[in-house]
Amino acid sequence: MSVLDDFVGQCRALAHSPTAENEIAAATRDLITAPDAIKACAPSLNPTASSGGDEATIFEDDTLTVMVLATPPGIDQPPHDHEMSAIIGIYGGGEVHRFYRRVESEPAIVASGGKTIRAGETLTMGPTAIHAIAAEGDEVCYAVHTYLGRLSTVERSLFNPDTLLPEPMDLARYEQYCRPLAP
Ligand SMILES: [Fe+2]
Repeated sequence: MSVLDDFVGQCRALAHSPTAENEIAAATRDLITAPDAIKACAPSLNPTASSGGDEATIFEDDTLTVMVLATPPGIDQPPHDHEMSAIIGIYGGGEVHRFYRRVESEPAIVASGGKTIRAGETLTMGPTAIHAIAAEGDEVCYAVHTYLGRLSTVERSLFNPDTLLPEPMDLARYEQYCRPLAP
């Protein structure tokens, strides 16, 4: 069994646990100790496939989505939410996260800190988190993103990077909102 098949099996068994986030984060930390084994069995990813890079969903049901992603350098991706917990593990390069929090008045969100995670590290975000990502430096970032729900169909928000106002998530619009990273 490949390391990703094994990981999906572990996550499916853990997805209903009251401590699923912590347990899946631990399983993710184990998984990303073997980046070469992940690359050997992951679907091939082309980081220049689009502005936002490339991604492949390796498992999805109502309780769980597991994806692998390649994020290209030099691109600032737009803020968005997930409406479910997310556990991210990096197995190549680094992922720069900028966080936002909702506010009552316009704009709908304001910047609220950030964190950079690098190969071997994980980050857990709760269901109300809003973030924007970029690859660190000039390296492609390779990551495993696990969500505690069906990400492809959940109603969630994308934020216009100029106005910070929300709109329904739309992958074509997400691409449009990817911008060259300021030098
Ligand atoms: Fe995200």
